[in-house]
Amino acid sequence: MDRRQFLAFSTAIAGIALLPRCATSQLSAPKSTLYRSQAGLLEVDLTAQLTSVPLAGRTAQLMTYNQQVPGPRLEVNPGDRVQIRFTNQLEQPTNLHFHGLHVDPTGLADNPFRAVNPNETVDYVFDIPADHPAGLFWYHPHYHGLVAQQLFSGLAGEFIVRGADDRLPALQSAQETVLVLQDFDLNRQGQVREPMPMARMWGREGDLITANGQANPALSLALGGLLRLRLLNASPSRIYRLRLQNHPWWLIATDGGTLQAPTAQDEVLLSPGERVDMLIPGDQPPGTYPLVTLPYDRGLADMMAGMANRHGGHMGSLGQTEPLPIAQINYGAPRVAGDWPETLGTVDPLPEPTTTREFVLDHGLDPETGDQFLINGRAFDHHRVDVQVNVGTVEDWVIINRAGMDHSFHLHTNPFQVVARNGQPEPLKAWKDVVNVPAYETATIRIAFRQFVGKTVYHCHMLDHEDQGMMGIVEMLDIKK
Ligand code: C2O
Ligand code: CU
Ligand code: CU
Repeated sequence: MDRRQFLAFSTAIAGIALLPRCATSQLSAPKSTLYRSQAGLLEVDLTAQLTSVPLAGRTAQLMTYNQQVPGPRLEVNPGDRVQIRFTNQLEQPTNLHFHGLHVDPTGLADNPFRAVNPNETVDYVFDIPADHPAGLFWYHPHYHGLVAQQLFSGLAGEFIVRGADDRLPALQSAQETVLVLQDFDLNRQGQVREPMPMARMWGREGDLITANGQANPALSLALGGLLRLRLLNASPSRIYRLRLQNHPWWLIATDGGTLQAPTAQDEVLLSPGERVDMLIPGDQPPGTYPLVTLPYDRGLADMMAGMANRHGGHMGSLGQTEPLPIAQINYGAPRVAGDWPETLGTVDPLPEPTTTREFVLDHGLDPETGDQFLINGRAFDHHRVDVQVNVGTVEDWVIINRAGMDHSFHLHTNPFQVVARNGQPEPLKAWKDVVNVPAYETATIRIAFRQFVGKTVYHCHMLDHEDQGMMGIVEMLDIKK
């Protein structure tokens, strides 16, 4: 035990919580409202509007859902119906997407092609299948061309599906905390700054990092207890390289559900749109343990940093050389140790694919609009169907990143398993809906197209790239009909 830990230990014994007084966490953001389904129905009104909200100890002008950043937390059970009355009070079109949910992608459901114009009120209605996996999903705008701006202005919220995983005794006895990670770039008036063209190309980042709208919030972990820490990257472009300093933590779930067993982690890479569930046993000397994000190079840092210097722009994590705080975990009063979950669930391997397709991610130049982000040489066109697949089949998609920066590939409606990286089998069996593909690397994902027919999208979840064309349309067909 070092001096710091000893001091923390002795104050803990004296019954005084050792909470470092951090000026920026004094004015704390109000907690996001929780809306839970009742008797099989989640009925909620959501309004998108520009408002002043407390953020990380100051006041910011942000785009909000129900005047909250992050937006209200929605919680359902498998088999529930979701009915959202959505009003757009922004001065630009928007819409809603339910990221990671295996639900109908058409009509009034999780339809990314809908536009909700200013002052319009519309309904979103869909059913959560009875066999839907439990997990941390989320909702955010998906109006092509404005997605990065709207998320960077604050629009995002949790969408939790409860299920058998939550009823594992060990997880039931754990304290649960969900942290929505967002980054912001605000001017002195607390308004979101317009990114420089270079930052838009790179993918906008801000140097204000928040967890649930707070800077470096303090979480409490009972000595001998368990903390289930669920993390969502709701930033448009920033990749978090997370570490819990001097403390073990275990990965128990990824985007699409639980793993087979807890897996010890050192660092956790969380690219935009990804989620992880971490289990933290309170078995270390009592004290304060910082959760930090370490510098991460998402490609050609030197070249881009050089350009940023010349343009005097804000390049977010590019300039990051030190760990930055996300949250801190303080040990609290002792508690009888709960069970440790030796096993969690099963992640059944998918059958061999009937079709294998390649998706090449690269950049191009359009003489009129400038930089373009391309998939298989083409920029997004909402009139064009890029891929047709048959429901009931399994496909391998080989995502080939030929560009000098990372791209995070995301598919709507059906989750997938990463089966290989750079041709080498992927050891971790897990359900995912986003896979980060580092510069010049390749990832192979295996997808079972199930149940839902209709058109939806796949895209880079670095949202400036999506807005600038790195998106395609997949049409799911039922050949038996
Ligand atoms: Cu979270 Cu199509 O996105
Ligand atoms: Cu999505
Ligand atoms: Cu990208």
